[in-house]
Amino acid sequence: MTFKVDPISPAEVDTNWLIVTIAEEENFHPQLQKIDDALNGQLTRLKENGDLTGKSGDVLKVLDADGIAATRLLIVGLGDPGKLTRAGFEKATMTAIRSITGNEYRSAGVVLNSSATHDVNLLAQAEIWSKSIIIGGSGQALHKAETDRYPIKNVTFLIESETVEPEVKQAVGRGRILGDAINLTRELVNRTPDEIYPESFALRARQVADEFNNLNCEIWDQKRLEDENMGSMLAVARGSDREPRLIVMEYLNGGPNAPTIALVGKGVTFDSGGYSLKPSQGMITMKCDMAGAATVLGAMAAIAELGLKANVIGMMGMVENLVSGNAYKLGDVLTARNGKTIEVHNTDAEGRLVLADVLCYAADRKVDYMIDLATLTGACVVALGTDVTGLFSNHQAWAGKVESAAKSCGEPLWPMPMFDDYNELLKSDLADVKNIGGRWGGAITAAKFLENFVNETPWVHLDIAGPAFAESSKPHQEGGGSGKMVHTLVETVSQLK
Ligand code: BES
Ligand code: MN
Ligand code: ZN
Repeated sequence: MTFKVDPISPAEVDTNWLIVTIAEEENFHPQLQKIDDALNGQLTRLKENGDLTGKSGDVLKVLDADGIAATRLLIVGLGDPGKLTRAGFEKATMTAIRSITGNEYRSAGVVLNSSATHDVNLLAQAEIWSKSIIIGGSGQALHKAETDRYPIKNVTFLIESETVEPEVKQAVGRGRILGDAINLTRELVNRTPDEIYPESFALRARQVADEFNNLNCEIWDQKRLEDENMGSMLAVARGSDREPRLIVMEYLNGGPNAPTIALVGKGVTFDSGGYSLKPSQGMITMKCDMAGAATVLGAMAAIAELGLKANVIGMMGMVENLVSGNAYKLGDVLTARNGKTIEVHNTDAEGRLVLADVLCYAADRKVDYMIDLATLTGACVVALGTDVTGLFSNHQAWAGKVESAAKSCGEPLWPMPMFDDYNELLKSDLADVKNIGGRWGGAITAAKFLENFVNETPWVHLDIAGPAFAESSKPHQEGGGSGKMVHTLVETVSQLK
């Protein structure tokens, strides 16, 4: 794919598609006006006839556009400019791109609008378009004879004046890096459980690390995990013929005085539920249960490629949760790395058992901040729906930073309570804690369980069980792995002081 930035007039760019936005407002913006002039007022007529409304998500296509150099014109609505958010803009750009990537087109010109009456400025537009073009050009048909999504090979970003060219180029580059990272996460989530298991995921992680000379990758095997006392994670892994792995990826580019952040991902490459077996209905999508780890890997790749000035350690705990004569059982008592004992009341509450040991390791590394990401509970999806990430924390200021990073990249997330009273629900008769809290407040008791393993480190837990994986496609989003929260992690790290 080649992306270029060009101060050429929209009427003159010779591409398969010319793409431009329109908000619900009185007048065309200057770039749109140029197109209308070249088309002899066709857009004015469409608007007068009520066919060009600017309504959010509306896509109007003018095929065989006569008067402009591009073959086809695509106009995407942004809705009320006073209400437009970054997320709203991205939804529109994704809808626009996805409406044409079902066919194979070689080239597109994207009009950036520097005179926008909305708050999504020129550079944000450039980044979002670039990111959307990368994400919207890749689908999930990994095993079809013929693909059903085609990337656009050559994209020109049109600007009005060459004075902004360097900044716009940078923004386009950022969007591209983010898009590639998100696609990596999506691909790993979309691959089948027979393709992605702990060892194969670890090999992919190593390949990613090898692409960047500032990314170091260590892979712990079964023996090492035993030596490191990761008894909780190892218990989950026991039911599988495939060995577990812990991936520790270091990116230390912030200097000795900058804080270090650990990004910890749940990497259950398939969650059958274990002896607390899931019904088929709930098991069918459980290849997605390594999305936390895939999100961490995607973020690490983007952070390294952007060359952020920060110290980041990515930790991905990889296991398969299966049943066998050797699998862990209900009633077992496990000992986590920090010595705490856990009574198993449900083998399907396995993610927290994996994270327990990995969080202990992060705490042992004396990192300054932690964020873990996990497709942890169905209860979080019940509470917040499929699109909103649940945020849980032991540290208000740190939670606030993650929240504001998420906000600035338009990824919805909502804070959940962490009252100590919930700890009552985790009490066990014979061990320090049990691994489930009962029927109510399931997302919160899961988070309270994790809190046992982070020491006093400022920590945020993100439950992405809803947003990480979409069961079906929508106009703005392909079904399957979403890559949600990759951007938020990158933004959080880039804002870290
Ligand atoms: N991986 C699941 C959670 C999940 C559910 C992710 C739906 C994505 C979509 C997790 O391991 C799990 O099974 N959680 C149980 C916990 C329960 C046994 C306390 C759940 O949510 O039912
Ligand atoms: Mn489970
Ligand atoms: Zn799980």
